[in-house]
Amino acid sequence: MTIPRMVQQSFLPDMQRPVGPVPGSVQTGTNAELIATVAPLYLTGAVLDVTYGTGGWWKEYQPHPFTAHDLNTDGVDFRALPEDDNSYDAVCFDPPYIPQGGDNHMATGDWGTRYGLTRSLPQSELDDMFTEGMAEAARVTREWVLIKCTDYTSSAILTVGSVKVVNLATALGLVTWDLIVHHTGPGPGGHNIFTVRRCRRHHSYLVVFRKRGTPGSGKLREKPPIIVGDGPPW
Ligand SMILES: C[S@@+](CC[C@H](N)C(=O)[O-])C[C@H]1O[C@@H](n2cnc3c(N)ncnc32)[C@H](O)[C@@H]1O
Repeated sequence: MTIPRMVQQSFLPDMQRPVGPVPGSVQTGTNAELIATVAPLYLTGAVLDVTYGTGGWWKEYQPHPFTAHDLNTDGVDFRALPEDDNSYDAVCFDPPYIPQGGDNHMATGDWGTRYGLTRSLPQSELDDMFTEGMAEAARVTREWVLIKCTDYTSSAILTVGSVKVVNLATALGLVTWDLIVHHTGPGPGGHNIFTVRRCRRHHSYLVVFRKRGTPGSGKLREKPPIIVGDGPPW
């Protein structure tokens, strides 16, 4: 999907210039505002949200057609979606991502609720959950997978959420297409930090992946085969 921009007319054809906003890669505001900003690029077709929660993503922009699941509402597990392969233009995935003992998780009482962790999971279980959910999202989408993630610290080790998600998605064959940094205010923690070791996280990420085989995602730019030896006889 590309958005054609208006062109400022000029008597001199070479002086014509595109006008109008292009969404920036750093956004402030609510999740709903963030989603509304990127919607013209990625959410104009049929959208499936597999972690609907309280529907916070859709308070400014409502896709049509739209389907929502959440383990807590309709009981659908994002690791085993009932949808057919390639049945939605975009799949949105906002999974729980704070591991057991994560410092952010400890910082505020409502963190687990807000991020969908009804019980704290060890890192390896969270990784498996993430990977299986992403694999399902990649199966069901025709084109886009939008994933929200954040950095977190666990036992003083920083995990960069976007790097982790990109690595997992790349292993699944998805193409990293866009990454928007979402500045989300002061963030959790602070009151319990006695020794400052690193900058306090003030952001999360919306990472957009594209399925291979959609125009522009890579498959159409396949290189010709490398010919070894003398090559074919013609
Ligand atoms: C970060 S919250 C999503 C918030 C949502 N985007 C919103 O705006 O309200 C994560 C959600 O994932 C759901 N969840 C956790 N594990 C799940 C699973 N295995 N399958 C489906 N949903 C799951 C939780 O119930 C929670 O609502």
